[in-house]
Amino acid sequence: ERPTTVYQAIGGAATMEKLVDAFYNRVEQNALLRPLFPPSFDEVRERQYWFLTQLFGGPRLYQEKRGQPMLRARHLPFPITEKHAQAWLSCMYEAMVEAEITEPAREAMLQRLTMTAYHMVNTEIDTD
Ligand code: HEM
Repeated sequence: ERPTTVYQAIGGAATMEKLVDAFYNRVEQNALLRPLFPPSFDEVRERQYWFLTQLFGGPRLYQEKRGQPMLRARHLPFPITEKHAQAWLSCMYEAMVEAEITEPAREAMLQRLTMTAYHMVNTEIDTD
């Protein structure tokens, strides 16, 4: 049978774990993004794993553990500019390559995440 979700197509939980690890390793090294996050990435890494799993058609882990995503509201405490969204998306693109997520899944995921990332932008003021 052909896979019916992006989650299945990329290899499910194992690939999602690799992706999230590779992503936050990059965020941690990114001078623009690092200051927005707490010292430890452990919690956000786990929550992002739940969220991306659910977003791409896997088990509804985020809903179970955290309820309604309301992601824009949850990001309001952090000043996020277009530059942050671009940096976030480049970390994600590189993480997808590292996790060996191939086309067409990579492009489908990137398109969806691009919308979400720009939706999180909540200030025009660059402080860097
Ligand atoms: C949480 C930054 C985009 C999903 C967070 C946190 C920060 C952050 C600082 C909170 C860390 C903490 O103190 O716990 C950013 C920046 C973005 C961005 C700078 C640039 C646009 C996104 C996108 C998604 C996402 C596109 C979804 C695909 C999440 C999730 C959480 C989170 C699921 C955890 C929310 C919870 O508390 O349950 N993000 N984020 N973020 N972010 Fe983002």
